[in-house]
Amino acid sequence: MQQERLLKVLVIGDLGVGKTSVIKRYVHQVFSQHYQATIGVDFALKVLKWDHKTVIRLQLWDIAGQERYGNMTRVYYREAVGALVVFDMTRLSTFQAVLRWKGDLDSKVALGNGRPVPAVLLANKCDQRGQGLCSKLPKLENFSKDHGFVGWYETSAKDNTNIDAAMTRLVESIMAVE
Ligand code: GTP
Ligand code: MG
Repeated sequence: MQQERLLKVLVIGDLGVGKTSVIKRYVHQVFSQHYQATIGVDFALKVLKWDHKTVIRLQLWDIAGQERYGNMTRVYYREAVGALVVFDMTRLSTFQAVLRWKGDLDSKVALGNGRPVPAVLLANKCDQRGQGLCSKLPKLENFSKDHGFVGWYETSAKDNTNIDAAMTRLVESIMAVE
């Protein structure tokens, strides 16, 4: 018997870190240099043949970075079962915002058993690692463990680096919960 699962996954992080680009790369295999800020929230769907008996419909909620200052995240986060928290490796302020996004997430949504929803940390734009900041980053391995992420990846939506790996890690964690 085939089973179908619908998973609501959030993609959060500061303005311009590449959330929409990561989703477009993952779902449509495209990348654009052109920046158009997301307004409110956008949606994308990816269907995964997970194993011989499971099809996953991954509903990706692309939350505008601007929403950190708004009041809508509680509504957007409802019933989510996982999240990608994204920052831009070339901008320290976006890394500093990671814990605010994670805190916002954990304060507004949890699993049925009260545990936090699995979250994966993405250090995006790693194709631009030449641009300074990287040496100033704390060891992300420790950082991600200390703050309850189930994993972290250096990603590039531009070069298609580790996007699939990060999504797979997240879905594995979500599926392991149940
Ligand atoms: P908001 O919707 O405002 O919250 O931004 P966002 O997080 O959705 O960012 P978006 O995906 O729109 O990307 C912002 C800019 O960064 C765009 O100009 C993208 O082309 C660029 N960008 C995104 N990902 C990458 C990447 O991996 N490498 C490089 N070099 N540029 C990227
Ligand atoms: Mg966007």
